[in-house]
Parts: sequence; C-alpha cells; structure tokens
Amino acid sequence: MRRRAAIDALINDEIERRRRQPEAFEVSSDILSLLLAARDEQGQPMTDQELRDELMTLLVAGHETTATALTWALYWLHRRPELRLRLQQELAGVDAAADPTAVLSLPYLAAVCNETLRIYPVGMLTFPRVVRRPVTLAGQRLEPDTLVIGSIYLAHRRPAVYPDPETFRPERFLETSYSPYEFLPFGGGSRRCIGMAFAQYEMKVVLSRILSRASLELDATHAAHPVRRGLTSGASPVRLRRTGSPHSQG
Ligand code: HEM
Repeated sequence: MRRRAAIDALINDEIERRRRQPEAFEVSSDILSLLLAARDEQGQPMTDQELRDELMTLLVAGHETTATALTWALYWLHRRPELRLRLQQELAGVDAAADPTAVLSLPYLAAVCNETLRIYPVGMLTFPRVVRRPVTLAGQRLEPDTLVIGSIYLAHRRPAVYPDPETFRPERFLETSYSPYEFLPFGGGSRRCIGMAFAQYEMKVVLSRILSRASLELDATHAAHPVRRGLTSGASPVRLRRTGSPHSQG
C-alpha cells in the first residue's frame, strides 16, 4: 500500500502538472494529453481518479506485458537468424514510411508475434472465473463457487495441437488456423484482455521498425528462459548489441 501511495503521488503530480499547462498538451498527442482533452457525451472531462485509473492500467497491464513480448520476439529472431531474414524480406516489400499501417497485414510478421506469445505467454494464466451453475468441463463436473483458472501456458504446449511445442516455429501459424480455445494469449470470453488489439499493433510496429533500422546481435550464447513475475512471466536477461543498420550490411 505504501508503494501504491508513492505511485499515486507520481501520477497525480503529472496530472496536476499537465492541468497547469493546458497549452502544452493541446499540441501534444501522448496518451495523458488525449485523456485530459477527452469529453463525454455531456461535455464532461475525466475526473482525476478516472485519469489515474487509466494510467495505472496502461502502466501495470499494458507496459511490461508488451515490453516482455517484444523482448522475446527479438530474442527468437536473433537466436534463429534464418527466421529474421525471412521477416526482413517480408518487411522490405512494404513502404512503411509512406504507409505506417502497411506492416499490420503482413502474414509472417503476424506469425512471429503469435508464435512469440504462444511459446512463452506473458500472461500464463487467465484471471479466475467462478462457477455459477453446475457445469461439466472436459469431463470434470464443477460445482457452484468453484474457482477456475485457465492455464494459457499449458494450452499452448499441447503436443496434439502444437506438434513439437518447445520449438519456436512461426510457420505453424501460416499452416494452421487455431481456434480461440487453442490459442489464447490474451485470455478469452467477455473478460479477454482489453488491450489485445493495441498490444498486437504495438508489437508489429515496434518490431518492424527495429528490424528495418538496426542490425542487432544477441549478446549471449546461453538460452534465455521465462521467469515468474507475480501474475505475469518475464524473460531472464536478454542483451542485444547494435552492430549497424540493415543497409550497411547490404
Ligand atoms: C502482449 C501484451 C499483453 C498480453 C499477453 C496480455 C494478456 C492478458 C491476459 C491473459 C489477460 C486475462 C484475460 C482473461 O482472464 O481472459 C489480460 C487482461 C487484461 N489486460 Fe492484457 N495483455 C497484454 C497487453 C495489455 C495492454 C496493452 C493493456 C492496456 C492497454 C492491457 C490491459 C488489460 C486489462 C485491463 C485486463 C483485464 C480485463 C478484464 O478483466 O476485463 N493488456 N491481459
């Protein structure tokens, strides 16, 4: 609670600072400025509590999750250079400068992002659900008030669904169309991750920009592994070194 109070103080100071300088956020398009400028149907702005809650969601649920997923994607693409080359060839076919959204529909980029979220899902578990009426699930009868938590990690490693599940192989997403019961990195149903579209968008844009602009090298020979971080999983340290730009390598 002390830590939460410290974070609240930081966030509230920032909200207060922006409120004092309205001219600064009129031209700026960062998320806090947009939230401050937003008005509801009655023309009312968001309260400080609402602003704080939105920022907390972005920081806690939205920042580290996507950052970890991007770390894993860069790790796999540099541990398996043949996959990176294939992705870079696909990226070379679009003019991202002319149309930044062009990368969003690239099939191999989507497959790389999906395989990254399959093999080590950042959210290993869904949030808990509580049984309301008796129900039989996969042959198990569940009584009311039973707490059920879905294991995304285990679902993503079923050999019957994902042959050779320990291998990072984006191609499987080009060959097979998985159902929401087989591939669920963002959970499922009405409480599915609210940031899903944003996170996928962010992953594609950031990965394509990094790979088009910089040549990187994995700064380790050992394999990285997932580490538990409270509700989510992170990656053991992954270090990448910049060695130039893709163009300088021809
Ligand atoms: C790669 C990135 C992300 C992953 C893997 C991820 C994963 C998940 C998972 C597994 C859940 C639980 C869903 C369920 O129980 O069915 C969840 C919930 C949630 N996520 Fe994400 N998430 C990501 C990014 C984000 C972002 C960017 C935001 C916000 C901008 C966000 C906000 C939330 C919120 C608010 C919930 C709770 C939804 C509810 O209970 O109704 N997440 N996420």
